[in-house]
Amino acid sequence: MPLNPDTQSLTIVRPDDWHLHLRDGATMASVLPHTARQFGRAIVMPNLRPPVTTTGHAQAYRERILQALPAGLEFEPLMTIYLTDNTSANEIRRARESGIIHGVKLYPAGATTNSDAGVTDLRKCGAALEAMQECGLPLLMHGEVTDAAIDIFDREAVFIDRVLIPLRKDFPALKVVFEHITTRQAAQYVRDAAGAIGATITAHHLLYNRNEIFRGGIRPHYYCLPVLKREEHRQALVAAATSGNPRFFLGTDSAPHAKGLKEHACGCAGCYTALHALELYAEAFSAAGALDKLEGFASLHGAAFYDLPANAGSVTLERHEWEIPAELPMGETTVVPLDAGGRLGWRMAD
Ligand code: DOR
Ligand code: ZN
Repeated sequence: MPLNPDTQSLTIVRPDDWHLHLRDGATMASVLPHTARQFGRAIVMPNLRPPVTTTGHAQAYRERILQALPAGLEFEPLMTIYLTDNTSANEIRRARESGIIHGVKLYPAGATTNSDAGVTDLRKCGAALEAMQECGLPLLMHGEVTDAAIDIFDREAVFIDRVLIPLRKDFPALKVVFEHITTRQAAQYVRDAAGAIGATITAHHLLYNRNEIFRGGIRPHYYCLPVLKREEHRQALVAAATSGNPRFFLGTDSAPHAKGLKEHACGCAGCYTALHALELYAEAFSAAGALDKLEGFASLHGAAFYDLPANAGSVTLERHEWEIPAELPMGETTVVPLDAGGRLGWRMAD
């Protein structure tokens, strides 16, 4: 039942972030508390330099995350490994048996930040994909083709036809997460396809269309990959996220880059949303009149897909206006949060 539009507070089961970049070292120590304040768990992306390609790397990275976690915050990092042309079936089985690894990330080589070690041709990954299908370890896909001849705004839709559909024909029992979907075509595919498939949706793709990148000048903090799309696509994503369909769940893709590397002649892709993720989603769901659907999307659907229990405990959002800070300390540098200087109508209570 839709909530009363005058509702002043909303308590939901503690949410999880099913797609997150934590980085490493001092950067990680700066950004981790933002995520851990709001979310019980997060799927941690493996695109470090060098990438997290083995169970051993993932175990060591997980230890570093737990070390960096401030006392008093409870947070469980759900680790992933980075698929390469050379990932073996044995590596996949080791990952599954470790109990700490919950997915294998496909970055088509060259698709995005630190993806140069990614997959050049999925046909080289047959043994790994076979093992994943067999042991139930999900494939988490950055779903864009890298063909430079394909317009950047079309790369996700083309990926569905050229890569995703053939892949799922060859591995029909493989669990797949179509990460950070940005188009009507992806939302429709995930809604209608047979078999085990889910999709994460970011807050920024629910809140903005591609005009935001160019509003009054070029605005690098709104540049991410896959890039923001037309308004019709944003609306399709909002419809999917607020539909109650358990295939759609929260994944921020919060991707911190130093301010100077975003405000640059060749700025990095990524929006920093870990600071205010849940509030940004609340804004999007509230604008759609669908706050009653936030708990499923943020706290229940992803856990069910990953065969994990929902978190114990809850968080409360209150209607309270506040201003997003201009920048935040990050290691030796600073990071600019998405919509810095803007105002949010919801705030997470402590
Ligand atoms: O915008 C993005 N930033 N998209 C990605 O796929 C990677 C991410 C990053 O790691 O910075
Ligand atoms: Zn990402």
